[in-house]
Amino acid sequence: MATDFLSITDLTAQGLTQVLDNADNFRQGQGSGTPLKGKNVAMLFEKPSLRTKVSFDIGIHDLGGHAVYLGQDEVGLGGRESVEDIAKVLGRYVSIIVARVFTHETLERMANAASVPVVNALSDYEHPCQAVADLLTIRQHRGRLDGMTVAFVGDSNNVSRSLALGCAMTGASFRLAPPNGYEFSAPDAEAIRAVFRDHGNAEGFVMLTSPDEAVAGADVVYTDVWTSMGQEDESPMRREAFTGYQVNDALMGKAGPNAIFMHDLPAHYGEEVAPGMLDHKQSVVFDQSENRLHAQKAILELLLPSS
Ligand code: NVA
Repeated sequence: MATDFLSITDLTAQGLTQVLDNADNFRQGQGSGTPLKGKNVAMLFEKPSLRTKVSFDIGIHDLGGHAVYLGQDEVGLGGRESVEDIAKVLGRYVSIIVARVFTHETLERMANAASVPVVNALSDYEHPCQAVADLLTIRQHRGRLDGMTVAFVGDSNNVSRSLALGCAMTGASFRLAPPNGYEFSAPDAEAIRAVFRDHGNAEGFVMLTSPDEAVAGADVVYTDVWTSMGQEDESPMRREAFTGYQVNDALMGKAGPNAIFMHDLPAHYGEEVAPGMLDHKQSVVFDQSENRLHAQKAILELLLPSS
Protein backbone atom coordinates (compact mmCIF):
# COMPACT_ATOMS: atom_id res chain seq x y z
CA MET A 1 0.00 0.00 0.00
CA ALA A 2 1.53 3.30 -1.07
CA THR A 3 1.83 6.16 1.42
CA ASP A 4 1.58 9.44 -0.43
CA PHE A 5 2.87 12.90 0.40
CA LEU A 6 0.26 15.20 -1.14
CA SER A 7 -0.17 17.49 1.88
CA ILE A 8 2.14 18.42 4.72
CA THR A 9 -0.65 17.07 6.96
CA ASP A 10 -0.05 13.59 5.51
CA LEU A 11 2.68 13.55 8.16
CA THR A 12 1.99 13.51 11.88
CA ALA A 13 3.60 16.29 13.93
CA GLN A 14 6.08 13.69 15.17
CA GLY A 15 6.72 12.46 11.61
CA LEU A 16 7.36 16.02 10.43
CA THR A 17 9.87 16.60 13.24
CA GLN A 18 11.60 13.34 12.26
CA VAL A 19 11.79 14.46 8.61
CA LEU A 20 13.21 17.82 9.74
CA ASP A 21 15.80 16.07 11.95
CA ASN A 22 16.82 13.81 9.06
CA ALA A 23 16.97 16.76 6.64
CA ASP A 24 19.12 18.63 9.14
CA ASN A 25 21.51 15.67 9.24
CA PHE A 26 21.81 15.82 5.46
CA ARG A 27 22.39 19.59 5.74
CA GLN A 28 25.24 18.95 8.11
CA GLY A 29 26.79 16.40 5.77
CA GLN A 30 25.72 13.32 7.69
CA GLY A 31 24.18 11.31 4.86
CA SER A 32 22.68 7.91 5.38
CA GLY A 33 24.18 5.85 2.58
CA THR A 34 22.37 4.90 -0.59
CA PRO A 35 18.86 3.73 0.37
CA LEU A 36 17.67 4.33 -3.22
CA LYS A 37 20.31 2.01 -4.72
CA GLY A 38 18.79 -0.01 -7.53
CA LYS A 39 15.58 2.06 -7.40
CA ASN A 40 14.04 4.43 -9.92
CA VAL A 41 11.96 7.56 -9.38
CA ALA A 42 9.70 9.21 -11.97
CA MET A 43 9.55 13.01 -12.02
CA LEU A 44 6.44 14.08 -13.90
CA PHE A 45 6.22 17.86 -14.35
CA GLU A 46 3.30 19.74 -15.95
CA LYS A 47 4.79 23.13 -14.99
CA PRO A 48 8.27 24.67 -15.11
CA SER A 49 10.65 24.15 -12.19
CA LEU A 50 14.21 25.02 -11.16
CA ARG A 51 14.67 24.24 -7.45
CA THR A 52 12.21 21.34 -7.18
CA LYS A 53 13.44 19.60 -10.31
CA VAL A 54 17.16 19.99 -9.61
CA SER A 55 16.93 19.19 -5.89
CA PHE A 56 14.91 16.02 -6.50
CA ASP A 57 17.18 14.93 -9.36
CA ILE A 58 20.37 15.44 -7.34
CA GLY A 59 18.78 14.11 -4.15
CA ILE A 60 17.76 10.89 -5.90
CA HIS A 61 21.27 10.54 -7.37
CA ASP A 62 22.93 11.19 -3.99
CA LEU A 63 20.80 8.48 -2.39
CA GLY A 64 21.93 6.01 -5.05
CA GLY A 65 18.80 6.03 -7.22
CA HIS A 66 17.98 6.93 -10.81
CA ALA A 67 15.59 9.74 -11.78
CA VAL A 68 13.54 9.78 -14.99
CA TYR A 69 12.27 13.26 -15.86
CA LEU A 70 9.07 13.54 -17.90
CA GLY A 71 7.85 16.94 -19.07
CA GLN A 72 4.29 17.64 -20.12
CA ASP A 73 5.15 17.51 -23.83
CA GLU A 74 6.44 13.95 -23.51
CA VAL A 75 3.61 12.47 -21.45
CA GLY A 76 0.52 14.50 -22.26
CA LEU A 77 -0.97 13.96 -18.80
CA GLY A 78 -4.72 13.57 -19.14
CA GLY A 79 -4.56 14.23 -22.90
CA ARG A 80 -2.51 11.63 -24.71
CA GLU A 81 -3.13 9.19 -21.85
CA SER A 82 -5.35 9.23 -18.80
CA VAL A 83 -3.89 10.22 -15.44
CA GLU A 84 -4.80 6.78 -14.07
CA ASP A 85 -3.15 4.83 -16.90
CA ILE A 86 0.04 6.87 -16.56
CA ALA A 87 0.13 6.28 -12.80
CA LYS A 88 -0.43 2.53 -13.21
CA VAL A 89 2.26 2.21 -15.89
CA LEU A 90 4.83 4.24 -13.96
CA GLY A 91 4.17 2.12 -10.88
CA ARG A 92 5.49 -0.88 -12.82
CA TYR A 93 8.85 0.84 -13.41
CA VAL A 94 9.56 3.06 -10.44
CA SER A 95 9.44 3.08 -6.64
CA ILE A 96 8.17 6.68 -6.21
CA ILE A 97 6.34 9.17 -8.48
CA VAL A 98 7.19 12.85 -7.92
CA ALA A 99 4.62 15.04 -9.71
CA ARG A 100 4.10 18.77 -10.29
CA VAL A 101 0.60 19.45 -11.58
CA PHE A 102 -1.86 22.24 -12.26
CA THR A 103 -4.79 20.90 -10.29
CA HIS A 104 -4.51 19.08 -6.99
CA GLU A 105 -7.22 16.69 -8.14
CA THR A 106 -4.79 15.27 -10.71
CA LEU A 107 -2.47 14.28 -7.86
CA GLU A 108 -5.31 12.66 -5.94
CA ARG A 109 -6.31 10.65 -9.01
CA MET A 110 -2.71 9.66 -9.57
CA ALA A 111 -2.28 8.61 -5.95
CA ASN A 112 -5.50 6.54 -6.07
CA ALA A 113 -4.36 4.69 -9.17
CA ALA A 114 -0.65 4.25 -8.45
CA SER A 115 0.78 1.26 -6.59
CA VAL A 116 3.72 3.39 -5.39
CA PRO A 117 3.89 6.60 -3.29
CA VAL A 118 3.10 9.88 -5.06
CA VAL A 119 4.88 13.05 -3.90
CA ASN A 120 3.36 16.50 -4.45
CA ALA A 121 6.09 18.55 -6.11
CA LEU A 122 3.61 21.50 -6.22
CA SER A 123 -0.04 21.69 -7.08
CA ASP A 124 -2.37 24.69 -7.09
CA TYR A 125 -3.39 23.69 -3.54
CA GLU A 126 -0.20 22.80 -1.67
CA HIS A 127 3.59 22.80 -1.91
CA PRO A 128 4.52 20.53 1.00
CA CYS A 129 8.13 19.84 -0.05
CA GLN A 130 8.74 23.61 -0.02
CA ALA A 131 7.24 23.83 3.47
CA VAL A 132 9.62 21.16 4.80
CA ALA A 133 12.59 23.16 3.47
CA ASP A 134 11.09 26.37 4.89
CA LEU A 135 10.66 24.91 8.38
CA LEU A 136 14.19 23.50 8.20
CA THR A 137 15.49 26.98 7.33
CA ILE A 138 13.63 28.63 10.21
CA ARG A 139 15.05 26.05 12.62
CA GLN A 140 18.54 26.56 11.17
CA HIS A 141 18.47 30.33 11.60
CA ARG A 142 16.21 30.84 14.61
CA GLY A 143 17.07 27.67 16.52
CA ARG A 144 13.51 26.42 16.94
CA LEU A 145 9.99 26.47 15.51
CA ASP A 146 7.94 26.31 18.67
CA GLY A 147 6.83 29.84 19.63
CA MET A 148 8.03 31.46 16.39
CA THR A 149 5.78 33.91 14.51
CA VAL A 150 5.84 33.69 10.72
CA ALA A 151 4.39 36.66 8.80
CA PHE A 152 3.45 35.89 5.19
CA VAL A 153 2.85 38.99 3.09
CA GLY A 154 1.03 37.94 -0.06
CA ASP A 155 -1.37 35.50 -1.61
CA SER A 156 -3.49 32.78 -0.04
CA ASN A 157 -1.95 30.09 -2.21
CA ASN A 158 -0.22 26.72 -2.30
CA VAL A 159 2.92 28.00 -0.54
CA SER A 160 1.17 29.92 2.24
CA ARG A 161 -1.27 27.06 2.87
CA SER A 162 1.45 24.40 3.28
CA LEU A 163 3.60 26.69 5.42
CA ALA A 164 0.66 27.67 7.63
CA LEU A 165 -0.18 23.99 8.18
CA GLY A 166 3.49 23.17 8.84
CA CYS A 167 3.63 25.98 11.41
CA ALA A 168 0.51 24.59 13.09
CA MET A 169 2.18 21.18 13.36
CA THR A 170 5.41 22.54 14.86
CA GLY A 171 4.15 25.09 17.40
CA ALA A 172 4.73 28.23 15.33
CA SER A 173 2.10 30.90 14.67
CA PHE A 174 1.20 32.21 11.23
CA ARG A 175 -0.01 35.66 10.23
CA LEU A 176 -1.15 36.01 6.62
CA ALA A 177 -1.57 39.45 5.03
CA PRO A 178 -3.22 39.22 1.59
CA PRO A 179 -5.06 42.14 -0.05
CA ASN A 180 -8.84 42.28 0.13
CA GLY A 181 -10.36 39.58 -2.05
CA TYR A 182 -7.29 37.32 -1.87
CA GLU A 183 -7.90 35.78 1.56
CA PHE A 184 -8.39 32.04 1.95
CA SER A 185 -12.07 31.17 1.53
CA ALA A 186 -13.99 30.77 4.80
CA PRO A 187 -13.94 26.92 4.61
CA ASP A 188 -10.23 26.90 3.72
CA ALA A 189 -9.39 29.27 6.59
CA GLU A 190 -11.46 27.13 8.95
CA ALA A 191 -9.63 23.98 7.79
CA ILE A 192 -6.29 25.66 8.59
CA ARG A 193 -7.59 26.94 11.93
CA ALA A 194 -8.72 23.40 12.80
CA VAL A 195 -5.15 22.11 12.38
CA PHE A 196 -3.89 24.86 14.70
CA ARG A 197 -6.61 23.92 17.21
CA ASP A 198 -5.70 20.23 16.97
CA HIS A 199 -2.12 21.11 17.84
CA GLY A 200 -3.04 23.22 20.88
CA ASN A 201 -2.60 26.69 19.33
CA ALA A 202 -6.18 27.77 18.60
CA GLU A 203 -5.21 31.42 18.09
CA GLY A 204 -2.14 30.57 16.00
CA PHE A 205 -3.58 31.47 12.60
CA VAL A 206 -4.51 35.08 11.85
CA MET A 207 -5.55 36.70 8.55
CA LEU A 208 -4.91 40.45 8.34
CA THR A 209 -4.96 42.89 5.47
CA SER A 210 -2.12 45.12 6.69
CA PRO A 211 1.45 43.97 5.93
CA ASP A 212 2.71 46.32 8.70
CA GLU A 213 0.45 44.69 11.25
CA ALA A 214 1.41 41.20 10.06
CA VAL A 215 5.17 41.72 10.33
CA ALA A 216 5.12 43.71 13.62
CA GLY A 217 7.60 41.90 15.88
CA ALA A 218 7.55 38.77 13.67
CA ASP A 219 10.44 36.29 13.64
CA VAL A 220 10.11 35.44 9.96
CA VAL A 221 8.92 37.58 7.03
CA TYR A 222 7.96 35.51 3.99
CA THR A 223 6.60 36.35 0.58
CA ASP A 224 5.77 34.56 -2.68
CA VAL A 225 4.82 35.68 -6.19
CA TRP A 226 1.57 37.59 -6.66
CA THR A 227 0.65 35.46 -9.68
CA SER A 228 1.21 31.72 -9.42
CA MET A 229 1.77 29.37 -12.34
CA GLY A 230 -1.56 28.79 -14.06
CA GLN A 231 -2.94 32.23 -13.08
CA GLU A 232 -1.10 34.21 -15.76
CA ASP A 233 -4.38 35.57 -17.21
CA GLU A 234 -5.04 37.30 -13.87
CA SER A 235 -1.63 38.94 -13.74
CA PRO A 236 -2.63 42.58 -14.56
CA MET A 237 -5.50 42.45 -12.06
CA ARG A 238 -3.31 40.90 -9.39
CA ARG A 239 -0.52 43.43 -9.96
CA GLU A 240 -3.01 46.14 -9.15
CA ALA A 241 -4.61 44.40 -6.17
CA PHE A 242 -1.25 43.50 -4.56
CA THR A 243 0.31 46.96 -4.90
CA GLY A 244 1.73 47.82 -1.48
CA TYR A 245 2.18 44.16 -0.54
CA GLN A 246 5.90 44.26 -1.18
CA VAL A 247 8.63 43.10 1.19
CA ASN A 248 11.38 45.72 1.26
CA ASP A 249 13.91 47.10 3.73
CA ALA A 250 11.33 49.42 5.32
CA LEU A 251 8.92 46.54 6.00
CA MET A 252 11.73 44.34 7.37
CA GLY A 253 12.49 47.17 9.80
CA LYS A 254 9.06 46.67 11.36
CA ALA A 255 9.64 42.96 12.09
CA GLY A 256 11.48 41.61 15.13
CA PRO A 257 15.15 42.60 15.48
CA ASN A 258 16.42 39.13 14.49
CA ALA A 259 13.79 38.51 11.84
CA ILE A 260 14.79 36.56 8.75
CA PHE A 261 13.50 37.16 5.23
CA MET A 262 12.35 34.18 3.15
CA HIS A 263 11.05 33.66 -0.40
CA ASP A 264 10.47 30.34 -2.15
CA LEU A 265 11.46 31.88 -5.54
CA PRO A 266 11.30 32.71 -8.38
CA ALA A 267 11.36 36.38 -7.31
CA HIS A 268 9.60 39.10 -9.26
CA TYR A 269 11.58 42.22 -8.40
CA GLY A 270 9.48 45.33 -8.06
CA GLU A 271 6.39 43.23 -7.31
CA GLU A 272 6.32 41.13 -4.13
CA VAL A 273 9.96 41.87 -3.39
CA ALA A 274 12.16 44.96 -3.79
CA PRO A 275 15.32 44.66 -5.90
CA GLY A 276 18.26 43.57 -3.74
CA MET A 277 16.14 41.90 -1.04
CA LEU A 278 17.53 38.43 -1.72
CA ASP A 279 20.94 39.76 -0.69
CA HIS A 280 19.56 41.76 2.26
CA LYS A 281 21.47 41.21 5.51
CA GLN A 282 18.40 39.49 6.98
CA SER A 283 17.77 37.31 3.90
CA VAL A 284 18.22 33.54 4.23
CA VAL A 285 16.73 32.90 0.80
CA PHE A 286 19.69 31.04 -0.67
CA ASP A 287 20.01 28.80 2.41
CA GLN A 288 16.29 28.17 1.95
CA SER A 289 16.93 27.16 -1.68
CA GLU A 290 19.79 24.88 -0.63
CA ASN A 291 17.57 23.30 1.99
CA ARG A 292 15.24 22.08 -0.74
CA LEU A 293 17.89 19.43 -1.50
CA HIS A 294 18.27 18.27 2.11
CA ALA A 295 14.49 18.24 2.56
CA GLN A 296 13.87 16.20 -0.61
CA LYS A 297 16.29 13.52 0.56
CA ALA A 298 14.56 13.23 3.92
CA ILE A 299 11.14 13.04 2.19
CA LEU A 300 12.33 10.35 -0.25
CA GLU A 301 13.84 8.33 2.60
CA LEU A 302 10.63 8.55 4.56
CA LEU A 303 8.53 7.20 1.69
CA LEU A 304 10.96 4.49 0.73
CA PRO A 305 10.13 1.70 3.22
CA SER A 306 6.58 1.51 1.91
CA SER A 307 7.57 1.51 -1.76
N1 NVA B 1 2.99 30.02 -5.72
C1 NVA B 1 4.00 29.78 -6.73
C2 NVA B 1 5.12 28.96 -6.17
C3 NVA B 1 6.28 28.74 -7.11
C4 NVA B 1 7.35 27.84 -6.55
C5 NVA B 1 3.36 29.06 -7.90
O1 NVA B 1 2.55 28.16 -7.69
O2 NVA B 1 3.67 29.41 -9.05
